[in-house]
Amino acid sequence: MPMRLGVLGLGSVFWGPYSSLIQRLAADGQAELVAGYDVDAGKRKATAARFGIDTDLDGPDALLSRDDVDAVLVLTSMNEHGDLALAALERGKHVLVEKPMATSLEQARTLVDAAAASDRLLVCAPHIVLSPTYQEMHNRVRAGEVGPLLLGRARYGWSGPWWGKWFYQPGGGSLFDLGVYNLTALCGFFGPVRRVTAMVGVAIPQREAEGELLEVRSDDNAHVVLDFGDNRFASIACGFTIQKYRSPAIELYGRDGVLQMLGDDWAPEGFEQWRNDRGSWEVVPETDRNWPWTDGLRHLVDCARRGVPTVNRPEHAYHALEVMLAAKRSAEEGRVIEIESSFPALDYSAVGDTGADHRRLHDPRST
Ligand SMILES: NC(=O)c1ccc[n+]([C@@H]2O[C@H](COP(=O)([O-])OP(=O)(O)OC[C@H]3O[C@@H](n4cnc5c(N)ncnc54)[C@H](O)[C@@H]3O)[C@@H](O)[C@H]2O)c1
Repeated sequence: MPMRLGVLGLGSVFWGPYSSLIQRLAADGQAELVAGYDVDAGKRKATAARFGIDTDLDGPDALLSRDDVDAVLVLTSMNEHGDLALAALERGKHVLVEKPMATSLEQARTLVDAAAASDRLLVCAPHIVLSPTYQEMHNRVRAGEVGPLLLGRARYGWSGPWWGKWFYQPGGGSLFDLGVYNLTALCGFFGPVRRVTAMVGVAIPQREAEGELLEVRSDDNAHVVLDFGDNRFASIACGFTIQKYRSPAIELYGRDGVLQMLGDDWAPEGFEQWRNDRGSWEVVPETDRNWPWTDGLRHLVDCARRGVPTVNRPEHAYHALEVMLAAKRSAEEGRVIEIESSFPALDYSAVGDTGADHRRLHDPRST
């Protein structure tokens, strides 16, 4: 039986990438979109007309209390994530929540605890550790092909959203929106961060969004330095201040070699690997050019069906949030901040043989 989905937040990511993945999952008999809710009545109406689902609801609770919804996608603006994801878990639903999982650490802790106490799955974006490129790089790091990782560098940015004023208000910002990808990626390779220091600020104080000129009240420019212990460091440059780039998304410098992810960590194009013992670069293309950054949804459906935990763990998302909040505090207070949380190492055994499924689902030639 297909997993029956309800969606909270019918904005840009629902209309674009999530709805197209849902349609492919539906065509494959794996999922079915049942209902959706948005505080914006116009979006409810447009969604009902376009997708033929029930959006005639008077609030999130009306969706969460439905017996014909097995899993809820929380795709709202960021400040709403924590409360809505918690309410969905408490109603016995599987949950996918966009990043960050919450905007306060207290909310995020409640969510992680609720997920641990529940038999439902909580999948927190970003889902980048599921890409074939990331998995293969991770395999090679774990196999010791470049030796222990000593130094890393990551970057992600663009000129910034013109929709959603909330991106520039407290609870939004470039670290939560962009840096979260790099941080999730680097932590997956290096392990938990022990200390952080950062410069985080507003470089462009006025922006236009939703057709209005507004004062920017959340960071749009950040440089973050991470200490993973044993003098192993990495840095992240992110912002709504980056017009274009032609550099690797992630650079990993090991004692015996180098790995460089090409493209973006949410849209990888493969990687390059240097090995001292071979004295040459190897170029490894992404094996699935259609890999979508929404892949956590396919993974959620698959893991729920098989009764196994997901690869991307809520504790990993919690750790990323703690580091981002600490980076902001570090910038405000001009000091290095210690990080308390940790998370389990990525375990790809739950991926099982779904790689084949995954390719069939995303390869347009196979449908
Ligand atoms: N846009 C992107 O490129 C992108 C990419 C990856 C992830 N994300 C994440 O996806 C989420 C949504 O981003 P978006 O670009 O679609 O934003 P958006 O502003 O287009 O959509 C968010 C929607 O949530 C609705 N909403 C707000 N509060 C709500 C509530 N309490 N109940 C129901 N609906 C509510 C808003 O009315 C809006 O329609 C964000 O968390 C963002 O970080 C966005």
